[in-house]
Amino acid sequence: MSTCNCKTWLKGIVLAAVVLAIIGGMIGYDRGFREFDQPDWVTATPEMRFKYGSIGAEADSGIPYWIFYVLPRVFPEKFVQDGKVAPGGYAALGVSWEMGQELPIGFTKKTIGFPRVANNCAVCHTTSYRVSAESNPVFVVGGSGHTTNVQAFFRLLIDCAKDPRFNADILMAEIARVTHLDWIDQLLYRFLIIPMTKQRLLEREAQFAWLYRPDFPDWGRGRDDGMNLTKYFMIKAPMDDTFGPADMPAIWNLQKYEPSRGSLPNYAGDTHDVHSVVIDSALGVLGAPPKDNAAFLGQVKWLQDYLSALQPPKYPFPLNQARVAAGKPLFEAHCAACHASEKTGTRLPLAEVGTDRNRLDTWNKGAAIEANRVVRQFGIERKGLVEEDLVGYKTPYLDGLWLRAPYLHNGSVPTLRDLLEPAAKRPKLFWRGYDVYDPVKVGFVTDGDEAPHVGTKMDVASKGGGNQGHEFGTGLSAGEKEALVEYLKTL
Ligand code: HEC
Ligand code: HEC
Repeated sequence: MSTCNCKTWLKGIVLAAVVLAIIGGMIGYDRGFREFDQPDWVTATPEMRFKYGSIGAEADSGIPYWIFYVLPRVFPEKFVQDGKVAPGGYAALGVSWEMGQELPIGFTKKTIGFPRVANNCAVCHTTSYRVSAESNPVFVVGGSGHTTNVQAFFRLLIDCAKDPRFNADILMAEIARVTHLDWIDQLLYRFLIIPMTKQRLLEREAQFAWLYRPDFPDWGRGRDDGMNLTKYFMIKAPMDDTFGPADMPAIWNLQKYEPSRGSLPNYAGDTHDVHSVVIDSALGVLGAPPKDNAAFLGQVKWLQDYLSALQPPKYPFPLNQARVAAGKPLFEAHCAACHASEKTGTRLPLAEVGTDRNRLDTWNKGAAIEANRVVRQFGIERKGLVEEDLVGYKTPYLDGLWLRAPYLHNGSVPTLRDLLEPAAKRPKLFWRGYDVYDPVKVGFVTDGDEAPHVGTKMDVASKGGGNQGHEFGTGLSAGEKEALVEYLKTL
């Protein structure tokens, strides 16, 4: 009798435990992992999708939305611009921010259990420009993210995580000021989400060690040491002494590449085709192997199709047509052999152009073999990175040239007019990442009153920042240079 009673009790307890575990599991799944589509407006147009659409980075690289939201409130002193606390929080990083949007361009919000914020391609590949200091910015998708300071962003997140104030008490108190979380979310944030986010960010510090090296200059706005990122993140190579931050390139009109004749993407033609570079870029943004290769490759295909067809915008200021006509034959005589020929898009031995070599030294055959192996291990087929040592930079296509300042792979020459001067006469110190346009010299304003407050300093004597080489056209007369520059505006 008594045994029988015990058994009934035991059964009851086991049953209750199972039910609780199931409910707990359902809540855990619902609040921790259940994936929701982004709202319809995000995918309403291809441009919106490029700017705000998730490419799948939220799962592994996402920052919980409410943590992202309160960081500028908890750590205002880390959001600095021009030595002062910036009132606009993340705007201090030079990100492009459209009126009425809750997040900057290139930042995605998606709920996987809880809302998370991550990035997509647009954070580095959208140009912001203004026709004058009094105008509103124009945002051009697929252009160079010349204002974005990605190094400052990487460092900022780590610096916040390292700060003792990054703890549940302080963050929860700040979150409670801006939103109401129900008790389940409160428990999740306090005991799981905040501690895990802190730990994930701290883990990044070791991989990001070279971002803190005192012997390297800051990348500053619009530059990214991209091949080293790939080396230290994708293939986990030990840190070496190379450093080659390159300008964020424009990625419109990708149909121009013709691999069959050696016209290849990336500054040194490091990769076999557009498909491979889109895959590798997306893997970089995800920061981890894709959860679902078919869905991932679907995103890649969409990006590749969109960017292949996307065209650069036309020059928005008046053109002097007589000068354009006078400039065209000068271009044909002095530039077209490289920039409008079978050579365009192909690699040129460094000695023939003589620009800064640091970017080339950040990558090599061994790294390419290793990176290709890693991607194959993910079960992704692609032609991949070129398994050869780099000989020099590729001769770039000049489409949409007017909006691609500053010039050369390392952005060491502020304007087209400056590029037509011998290296010794080009600006030695200027400010990058200010978005007011200069239609006379053709590029962005890089000095004067405002640029030094908004932009970051570029010293051409710094490692990786050399402005030497490419002295083509520098011997033309002042009038001829004016005409050539006018023609270049039309490309
Ligand atoms: C953190 C900044 C950053 C992000 C995010 C980023 N890129 Fe890039 N991208 C770069 C830089 C820098 C280069 C130049 C690399 C080099 O050659 O040194 C580049 C090069 C490229 C190129 C080669 C362009 C050419 O004409 O040579 C393509 C295409 C490209 N990126 C596409 C993408 C796509 C698609 C995404 C999103 C899946 C993406 N990128 C995300 C910074 C970024
Ligand atoms: C011998 C081949 C060659 C000739 C001739 C040549 N270029 Fe170039 N050009 C290059 C190479 C290679 C690069 C890339 C160098 C780098 O980024 O380090 C380049 C880069 C450029 C860039 C930078 C593009 C960007 O987006 O930053 C511009 C602008 C340019 N060239 C304009 C011209 C003009 C104008 C002429 C004629 C006066 C000319 N080039 C003649 C090979 C050439």
